[in-house]
Amino acid sequence: MNQEQYFRRLPKVDLHLHLAGTLQPRTLLDLARKNGVSLPTRDEDRIYRFRDFYDFLDMLERIARCIVSKGDFARVSYEALRDAGAAGNLRYAEMFFNPQYHYAHGIDYETMVDGYIEGIEAAEREFGVVGRLIPSINRELGPDAAVDMVRDLIENPRDRVIGLGMDCAEYKGKPHLFAEAYRMARRAGLRCTAHVCEDNQTLEQAPPSHVIDCIEILGCDRLDHGYNMLADPAVVGRCRDCGIPCTVCSHTCVASRLRTRWDNISRMHEGGLSLVVCTDDPPMFGTDIGQAYVTVCEELRMSPAEAADLSLAGIDATWLSNDEKRGMRRRFKAEIDVLMAALDSSSEGSARQEASRA
Ligand code: HPA
Ligand code: ZN
Repeated sequence: MNQEQYFRRLPKVDLHLHLAGTLQPRTLLDLARKNGVSLPTRDEDRIYRFRDFYDFLDMLERIARCIVSKGDFARVSYEALRDAGAAGNLRYAEMFFNPQYHYAHGIDYETMVDGYIEGIEAAEREFGVVGRLIPSINRELGPDAAVDMVRDLIENPRDRVIGLGMDCAEYKGKPHLFAEAYRMARRAGLRCTAHVCEDNQTLEQAPPSHVIDCIEILGCDRLDHGYNMLADPAVVGRCRDCGIPCTVCSHTCVASRLRTRWDNISRMHEGGLSLVVCTDDPPMFGTDIGQAYVTVCEELRMSPAEAADLSLAGIDATWLSNDEKRGMRRRFKAEIDVLMAALDSSSEGSARQEASRA
């Protein structure tokens, strides 16, 4: 096995994955037809092309309109875990969904959450990939709507719903505005994270100070993205010192932004931040969890042992109990030992293997 195959086959967690962003083009076209939703194109190769971040967010909302019945929700979560398990040996995911996208079309919280849970349970039985859910606030709809949403999930508790997130355009809903929604969630025992400082938004739209607000005002114990904090070394220092994990995503909605993204991830790594490599919206960004690890491990010039540490660090950043983390770490280590043993011992070895295969 060469190094790229090893990166791909490492056991992994993904803690930043939006269910509405996991539909393969074929599934999206299917659900759109079934539910009478019109899409900009029916060409599978063109359906996930975006002008910019805001164009991408519009598409996500349109995708959400295509997921209507409990069975549709179940199909989406089932396929997300099945595909990620096959593409990159995903073992565990904490996945976002936006109840507010679906409320707008008359769907109640129980339909969506129970549909997603049904799909997760089926994928767990068939593929052994475990899933949990994180309802996510659409910050563009403001603080009052966020409080209503959080009330809904508190009134309809489910074991698989373990936290609260927040996404969409940061300048339209700055973190401090959502203090009440987050306070309610924490009081109900939910863990908290938020999208912040994403590098496809400007420093004015998504400034480093928002990271401090997420930690101090919202009580986040994890951050999604975080790249723009690099503009303020004091904020980076604060995150490094408290060890808060950042879920960084190897791919984004516009290909011309990839170089910047990879440079930012490298600088965050060099800055000593605790990183978890994730996918965000894999088919929409033309990637999968295996490719995400290959990309980041190669960019950061990681050795096989360093890549194994990256996969194990993902477990520490999950919201599993300490017992569950210990069990998962044991299983990951056993799998990693087998992979290490099958890895060519030198780059010369991998070159030879490639040559003999050609
Ligand atoms: N950022 C903001 N909103 C989103 C994202 C993201 O990465 N993915 C889905 N909605
Ligand atoms: Zn995201």
